[in-house]
Amino acid sequence: MVKEKTELDAMASGAEELRIDGFDHVEFYVGNALQAAYYYHKGFGFDVVGYRGPETGVRDTASYVLKQNNVTLVLTSALHPGHPIAEHVHRHGDGVKCIGMKVQDARKTYETAISRGAKGVGNPVEYKGEDGAYVSASVQTYGDTIHTFVERKDYTGAFAPDYKGKKKSAGNIGLTYIDHIVGNVEAQRMESWVDFYKKVFGFYIYQYFDAKDISTQYSALVSKVMANKSGTIKLPINEPAPGVGKSQIQEYLDYYLAPGVQHIAIGTKDIIATVAQLRDRGIDFLTVPHSYYEALPERVGKIDEDIDELERHGILVDRESEGYLLQIFTKTVEDRPTLFFEIIQRKGAQGFGKGNFKALFEAVEREQAARGNL
Ligand code: FE2
Repeated sequence: MVKEKTELDAMASGAEELRIDGFDHVEFYVGNALQAAYYYHKGFGFDVVGYRGPETGVRDTASYVLKQNNVTLVLTSALHPGHPIAEHVHRHGDGVKCIGMKVQDARKTYETAISRGAKGVGNPVEYKGEDGAYVSASVQTYGDTIHTFVERKDYTGAFAPDYKGKKKSAGNIGLTYIDHIVGNVEAQRMESWVDFYKKVFGFYIYQYFDAKDISTQYSALVSKVMANKSGTIKLPINEPAPGVGKSQIQEYLDYYLAPGVQHIAIGTKDIIATVAQLRDRGIDFLTVPHSYYEALPERVGKIDEDIDELERHGILVDRESEGYLLQIFTKTVEDRPTLFFEIIQRKGAQGFGKGNFKALFEAVEREQAARGNL
């Protein structure tokens, strides 16, 4: 069952919350950043706004920065075999390496995190130039994933030092902010990552879902959502639970070969318009049976949207006490069944679409079965 947010969890951890102003960016390590950038530019409507590579004096990697409103993605490839990024891609396939967080003081945030037991993977690096000051530092989280603290108060350069600005417009399809980023971890490991976010970040358990909430006859998972008090950071952590078939979380772990980011939820103010654009641009979504929409009016009551239109686009709806939300999930966006995206529009509801878990799970299982992995 869903537990309402409670301050007790934060107080129990005893850790003062690290001041995080929000998600800064998400960096992917990929096999071919040039082509991945084309996918997010053409498919998801991101502008290409920055580049770093041999032409900017960086000899061994190439990175593209993509931006749409408050969502920034960075795609990075290695240019030589044996480079750690090449090894990361060899092991995991394309995937998320870094969940970047905006901070006021990267050095202090890093030092506090380290003093509370985080493992440092990038000492604070400070850049000072004509375009202002930029500081970043990184700590390890689940699997090979890291958090980078980014401080760029008066920094006016392109994304980060060594990057040069680029301008390739895609037309803005209304993706406005990162709502939450979900991690999959191994069975029996969720609690230790919950503790990590409590102790190191001072985050609290915003909501949790047990196996009864998120199961079908085949597979199950459990999930706890870690968040900061301002709600600008929400990081659900999933672990597989036993079922008749293979949990979708276990399928992820079998292909990513480590814990890692399962999905990135991006907010929009008009999900119908945004999803219509995404579909036109060739993005594939999970399918929802007609029976879901037959049952919808009774389940969610009165909503502003036309149900036939929602069905045409495959958009899901869930009602909570404070309002409702609309959401939809892409198919996995890598060859390995690992990462996918969620598009979400909140109309008062602050949850994660619990009423849709069953329909969503069944849709995921149809995909798993098609891959021979159920
Ligand atoms: Fe989600």
